[in-house]
Amino acid sequence: MLLNSRGLSLILSGCIAAIVLGSLMLLPDIPNYAYWLVFFISFGTGYILINIVLEFLFFKELRSIYNMFEQIRANDLSQLEPNKKYGHSSIIQIHEEIYAYAHGKQSEIEELKQLAKFRRQFLADVSHELKTPIFAAQGFVHTLLDGAIDDKKNRMKFLKRAAKNLDGLDMLVQDLLTVSHMEAGDITMHLEPVNLCEMIFEIFDQMENNAQKTDITLKMNHERDEIIKVKADEQRIYQVLVNLITNAIKYSDEGGVVEVSVVDLGERQQVIVKDTGIGIPPEHLNRIFERFYRVDKSRARAIGGTGLGLSIVKHIVEAHDSDIHVKSTPGEGSEFSFELDKYIAQ
Ligand SMILES: Nc1ncnc2c1ncn2[C@@H]1O[C@H](COP(=O)(O)OP(=O)(O)O)[C@@H](O)[C@H]1O
Ligand SMILES: [Mg+2]
Repeated sequence: MLLNSRGLSLILSGCIAAIVLGSLMLLPDIPNYAYWLVFFISFGTGYILINIVLEFLFFKELRSIYNMFEQIRANDLSQLEPNKKYGHSSIIQIHEEIYAYAHGKQSEIEELKQLAKFRRQFLADVSHELKTPIFAAQGFVHTLLDGAIDDKKNRMKFLKRAAKNLDGLDMLVQDLLTVSHMEAGDITMHLEPVNLCEMIFEIFDQMENNAQKTDITLKMNHERDEIIKVKADEQRIYQVLVNLITNAIKYSDEGGVVEVSVVDLGERQQVIVKDTGIGIPPEHLNRIFERFYRVDKSRARAIGGTGLGLSIVKHIVEAHDSDIHVKSTPGEGSEFSFELDKYIAQ
């Protein structure tokens, strides 16, 4: 074990003492006890100093690098520590390199674990969401096959329910495709001039029937023939507005008001969709944009909806370099807003 700090200190201090002694021998008239004294003093101080230097600057660092390797090998990266700034500079550098490398690997591993967890969760959610309409449609079709087809009074009702569930399934698959394309970054936005007033009134016309069923009034803070041009992907922003307005109608009680406003902010236009509906409790507010997240699962399913609407809205709005914001008070209503760049003709 000569190559530990003590062994090396013994050898080196022995050499120093021998050199000092050798030099002393060249001088005349030195008494014998002086040789011993010089030998012990040079050997002793040499040993202590060399040992301190080796132990603190060298072996301690090497040991900590070794420990680091042990932790990396044992996959226990959580306790790695950055260098504490003493020791030889090249050793500090090695220490820092290893630390940076291991730290980078640790973040990579964490990210992969997180992704794997998301993937598992997503798969479980998708299977669960698909199962509901498939089982329902399957049930109605089998009931018909088992004889209900001859029941003139009920067969139409069963067929309609099967068809409704299959329509829901179709909607879910389409939304799933949109989400997966967006998350894979496959969808590029085609920015073009879009007239928001025209688009919003077109959506109102399309939703009129639905809104009337529950006596909900649709309002807009501009006239139908006004022109407010923004730079946006027409189809995608249409999808955003349809999702937000549909939600506003769906989650409102009878007699409510859904108001869409476009507010001039200078360089951008702010679009606000406000309702007087059931509202969203604060603890759910930052989760409603997650895939399949619903505040009241049974109510949301009963009214229909894939649970993917708001996550699609968020993706599209963010692809327009904007953010979607929500304010809501349970029992009073909700307000969703985002901004779009104004279109300025060249
Ligand atoms: N305007 C709103 N008022 C109240 N709750 C809302 C509103 N918009 C969305 N939510 C809540 O957010 C959830 C997620 O919305 P979304 O992603 O569009 O899914 P879906 O409408 O298919 O349930 C809804 O289930 C509902 O609980
Ligand atoms: Mg929705």
